[in-house]
Amino acid sequence: MGENILEVKHMTVTLYENGEEYKVVNRISFTVGKGEIVGIVGESGCGKSMTALALQDLLKNHIKVTEGSMMFDGRDLRKVTPAERRQINGKDMTMIFQEPMTSLNPLHRIGRQVGEVLQLHGSYSHAEIEKRTLEALSMAGLPDPAKTMRMYPHELSGGMRQRVMIAMGIIASPKLLIADEPTTALDVTTQAHVLELLQRINQQTGTAVLLISHDLGVINKICSRVLVMYAGKIVEQGRTEDILRNPIHPYTKGLIASIPTRRMKGVPLASIPGRVPPVTEEKPPCPFASRCDKADKRCFTEYPGRKTISDEHILWCHIDKTGKKPGKQSKL
Ligand SMILES: Nc1ncnc2c1ncn2[C@@H]1O[C@H](COP(=O)(O)OP(=O)(O)O)[C@@H](O)[C@H]1O
Ligand SMILES: [Mg+2]
Repeated sequence: MGENILEVKHMTVTLYENGEEYKVVNRISFTVGKGEIVGIVGESGCGKSMTALALQDLLKNHIKVTEGSMMFDGRDLRKVTPAERRQINGKDMTMIFQEPMTSLNPLHRIGRQVGEVLQLHGSYSHAEIEKRTLEALSMAGLPDPAKTMRMYPHELSGGMRQRVMIAMGIIASPKLLIADEPTTALDVTTQAHVLELLQRINQQTGTAVLLISHDLGVINKICSRVLVMYAGKIVEQGRTEDILRNPIHPYTKGLIASIPTRRMKGVPLASIPGRVPPVTEEKPPCPFASRCDKADKRCFTEYPGRKTISDEHILWCHIDKTGKKPGKQSKL
């Protein structure tokens, strides 16, 4: 396992519906290094949340991990006992979601909810729980932690609630924090603060972060590497700067063109024509082929195998390194 906290190999997530089976995540492989921040990007419906929920064993009953392995801190998550799983979730590997209000109990004060996380994962004295709750709230950037502890969720703004969720996510010093669209429901300024916060937590505590977003601009702010996901597949991955400077997959290029910028305020965003196909729809070997302006016959008949572009830059597309389709005349 070495330097990786997470190693996912050939993971498939299958949805069972009306007697049929559909792959919502299709043999994806990736790693997250210890202390690293990795991003997963893709439009809505590409399987990002399913990937996160699979890691946390929070998939609904009709959705299952059916293939592959998920090694976390040296253990295969598919093989751990329910007791081990309870220890991992909420302690070593925690998750924060897009909408904090739905994850907070409206009837309990913030202090109790944040402190409860520790109660579930060890025997701490009342005084220690209070001390660590204050520390976690403070680290999560809540201006008056003592006062916040006494408040109820509805007394806080959306940004403050997300900080409370982050405090809950970090209070037990996890090795990996999974953040699924943590800033999507927030305004731009608060979004930037929450991203800075995740980065600071990473730097100060060494917690690795798996950041999920539909916005490559968000990923670019804090992730050292990024996985581009489309219709349940990773289609391109690499160091964030390489992906942004030298994107090769037409889908990645489309996502880059869709990054909102201040300069373009008021100008409608470029978006990729078409839509992500529903899981129930049969897809060609390259899942993006039907929306791709560079696609040719081969993309509809042959799966694009893994291509190494440069050491960490990997591509699944028939396009060659220069961005052109290899000519059919090639006899090699
Ligand atoms: N509970 C569910 N039952 C059936 N299909 C679902 C369910 N949740 C999500 N899906 C489908 O699974 C696919 C992947 O969804 P998801 O992982 O939530 O995408 P993302 O997080 O990238 O937006 C989508 O096509 C979505 O419609
Ligand atoms: Mg999602």
